[in-house]
Amino acid sequence: MSLLFSPLTLRGITMRNRLWVSPMCQYSAVDGIPQEWHHTHLAQFASGGAGLVVAEATAVSPEGRISPDDTGLWNDRQRDAWAPIVAAIRSRGAVAGIQLAHAGRKASTWSPFSGHRGSVAVADGGWQTAAPSAIAFEGFETPAALDTAGIDAVVSDFAAAARRAMEAGFEVLEVHAAHGYLLHQFLSPLSNRRDDEYGGSLEGRARLPLRVIAAVRDAAPAAALIVRFSATDWADGGWDADDTATVAGWARDLGADFFDISSGGLVAHQQITTGPGYQVPLAAHVRRVAGVPVNAVGMIDDAAHAERILAGGDADAVMAGREWLRDPHYGLRAAGELGADIDYWPKQYVRARL
Ligand SMILES: Cc1cc2nc3c(=O)[nH]c(=O)nc-3n(C[C@H](O)[C@H](O)[C@H](O)COP(=O)(O)O)c2cc1C
Repeated sequence: MSLLFSPLTLRGITMRNRLWVSPMCQYSAVDGIPQEWHHTHLAQFASGGAGLVVAEATAVSPEGRISPDDTGLWNDRQRDAWAPIVAAIRSRGAVAGIQLAHAGRKASTWSPFSGHRGSVAVADGGWQTAAPSAIAFEGFETPAALDTAGIDAVVSDFAAAARRAMEAGFEVLEVHAAHGYLLHQFLSPLSNRRDDEYGGSLEGRARLPLRVIAAVRDAAPAAALIVRFSATDWADGGWDADDTATVAGWARDLGADFFDISSGGLVAHQQITTGPGYQVPLAAHVRRVAGVPVNAVGMIDDAAHAERILAGGDADAVMAGREWLRDPHYGLRAAGELGADIDYWPKQYVRARL
């Protein structure tokens, strides 16, 4: 019996297996609206056997976009463009999720294949960024520190985007509190130097992320709610795995169902040694200390490795990103490799069955 190919139910929503597609920005939206590319891109993973397909970091407000080419959910046109994409994922038997995001001080940057680097100037279609404190990410423009009204707006933007996501048919919502984006900027003492109730102690720094999680829970009571954390900044004086476990416990108490444990992205001087499964110990730590269900992610590129992670009790599911880009039918291949007898090999493809 393969653990990877056993189902997992969160808040009544059953993923047919535990091999999931990690959110991946495509930098291919127009005015925040997903395009035909997104449709094909996401649907193919569902045909390819994924249990859950999480759509890319999708901005809850225009100024929350990483780049001008990001998807959004701050208006109804965007919602209506997501709906057929969700239907395509669901009709292929996978659960559709979406990552809700605000990039904070890492917003308004050129997308990777624009031919430019760093911040987009206002004259070129960029915008003034906002963050907990007016401290720039190395190489980017300096953000404005959010005032209390700005913080309240972030909370209501996440809630409104969550409502639209549910209207579009998504069943899983992932709050992006990782990779150095706005909510992670609040969590880390390296980027949050506020002296009001949103800074200082761990409770203070976690206040906005927890308000967002509570607001999303309230706006989308039926959603399975995942929170992605970076469990370490990989930098001296930063946020770490113990902090992550503590805040994950608080988030669980506010209605988060599951935690997606990644790392890094907060500062350019981070020191990371990557390798196969390099973030698994972080996921295992959060799972053990906080007693919450988690997925591992990051350079877990083969089925046997993913199966071992689950068998070892280090995680409850595995997300992969680039392996799905290399082979959109990774799930079907992985099931074959593990000898799992799945009943969702597409009938149109059955002659190729492993
Ligand atoms: C093209 C690309 C886009 C990505 N975009 C996002 C994103 O939108 N949100 C996010 O949390 N992580 C993003 N990531 C990180 C992935 O979700 C994943 O955590 C990372 O690639 C490590 O997993 P892997 O080794 O299986 O690719 C992206 C990665 C890639 C390769």
